[in-house]
Amino acid sequence: MTKTILDISVSLDGRITDADGIPQGLHDWAAGDTRGRPAVSIPDTWRPDAFGAVICGRRTYEDSLPSWGADGPSMQHRLPVVVLSRSDVTPPPDGGVYSFAETIDTALATARALAHGKHVTVMGGANAAQAFLRAGLLDELKLHLVPTVLGIGTRLFADADLGHLRLEQLEALQDDQATHLRYRVRDPA
Ligand SMILES: NC(=O)c1ccc[n+]([C@@H]2O[C@H](COP(=O)([O-])OP(=O)(O)OC[C@H]3O[C@@H](n4cnc5c(N)ncnc54)[C@H](OP(=O)(O)O)[C@@H]3O)[C@@H](O)[C@H]2O)c1
Repeated sequence: MTKTILDISVSLDGRITDADGIPQGLHDWAAGDTRGRPAVSIPDTWRPDAFGAVICGRRTYEDSLPSWGADGPSMQHRLPVVVLSRSDVTPPPDGGVYSFAETIDTALATARALAHGKHVTVMGGANAAQAFLRAGLLDELKLHLVPTVLGIGTRLFADADLGHLRLEQLEALQDDQATHLRYRVRDPA
């Protein structure tokens, strides 16, 4: 069965950006550890072997577009990216991997169709992640916990009326840049 998985990097105080809306230092782990060894975990958005499509919120898309360009976060792998938005968005570059959806249900249906039987990653931001959590549409959470405290910034689990989210820990990997935690979302009690 294909899964829908939130894959996101968070600070120790549960933030996905700093005060300027930048995920300051939160993705450094993906480049490998400080001794030049490869990262023990690979971001889903880079994994065309297992993951077929990516969903993100409009702000993540617009903030990242200058670095993603036409290819999106998976770079040369060009995984399709479905952007959630109910407003006018910055148009994608020619030949871009992007499509757009106004609801989480249509975003997920589009992403599943584009993923051709592979898993779908929800890469954030917080607003999009919370919408999927609230709707009970996530099978797993992959949190890359980075040993930094940002103090001010976007909180992944802000006061978002998520109810009591019950999780089962499936995996915990560690390198010197981050702890990589994988949880299954349990059915509501
Ligand atoms: N640390 C990390 O790993 C990581 C990962 C991803 C992103 N980020 C950062 O997170 C920041 C953005 O996060 P964010 O929480 O502010 O915004 P976001 O989730 O990226 O985008 C929010 C927007 O998505 C759309 N949206 C969300 N839920 C929706 C729903 N249920 N139906 C329809 N549209 C919906 C809305 O767009 P409209 O307003 O157009 O309707 C909403 O304003 C960025 O700065 C990015 O760099 C960090």
